[in-house]
Amino acid sequence: MSDFIAQFVGVGHQYKKGAEIFKGATFNIEPGSFHFLTGPSGSGKSSLLKMLYLGLKPTWGSIRLFGEDPLTMKPSLLPLLRQQVGVVFQEFKLLDHLKVIDNVSLPLRVRGIEAKRSYRDARELLNWVGLGDSLQAYPATLSGGQQQRVAIARAVITRPQLLLADEPTGNVDDDMAIKLLHLFEELNKMGTAIVIATHNQRLLERSPYPHLTIRRGTIIRTPKRSKP
Ligand SMILES: Nc1ncnc2c1ncn2[C@@H]1O[C@H](COP(=O)(O)OP(=O)(O)O)[C@@H](O)[C@H]1O
Ligand SMILES: [Mg+2]
Repeated sequence: MSDFIAQFVGVGHQYKKGAEIFKGATFNIEPGSFHFLTGPSGSGKSSLLKMLYLGLKPTWGSIRLFGEDPLTMKPSLLPLLRQQVGVVFQEFKLLDHLKVIDNVSLPLRVRGIEAKRSYRDARELLNWVGLGDSLQAYPATLSGGQQQRVAIARAVITRPQLLLADEPTGNVDDDMAIKLLHLFEELNKMGTAIVIATHNQRLLERSPYPHLTIRRGTIIRTPKRSKP
């Protein structure tokens, strides 16, 4: 087991028809760490998260995830790596035809875990995010903040070691953004490493966590500062 969850060395990416978005991104994600990923719109935050959840291959440079090199390892083993990473998206990506409890238990069900245990875990997590009364609701009937909390519960039900969130507060008001941040902080205290891509200034200003900032195609790490 490596000491790092993720190690990127000189990573670059170029979309087929686009300009290169990274020239040489070098950074580490340590177990149990908490980072904000920042940078102007179009700088490559979503693309970087995609590389972290193996949805996008670097064009050059090297990546290690949990000590493994996803570019050279057996493709049949990639899902095992991928399962260690939970993802939360700005637009929630919940399944509208499934009830809240079914959305959250689905990742366990597809891994072959029996219904009783899957539902028990989903109920527990939904209580934790404050949605114990909405288990049987359909996502479309919930507010943006509630839907995002369902998405967080779904992302962590498999106990990933790394949780990535792409602009998770983009569709909620400031008060809900702070509440969501507290949920991420609680998860982090339980040992999950967190990377949140955001340009929400209020969130960035009130949080002491280190920033990974994308600037001119490289990553600049600003260390943790003491809480204001
Ligand atoms: N699938 C794609 N094909 C081509 N270009 C893309 C694709 N996805 C993103 N890009 C381009 O890559 C750059 C970085 O995008 P993105 O990672 O979404 O940045 P951010 O999340 O910081 O706004 C942008 O210029 C965007 O237009
Ligand atoms: Mg983005």
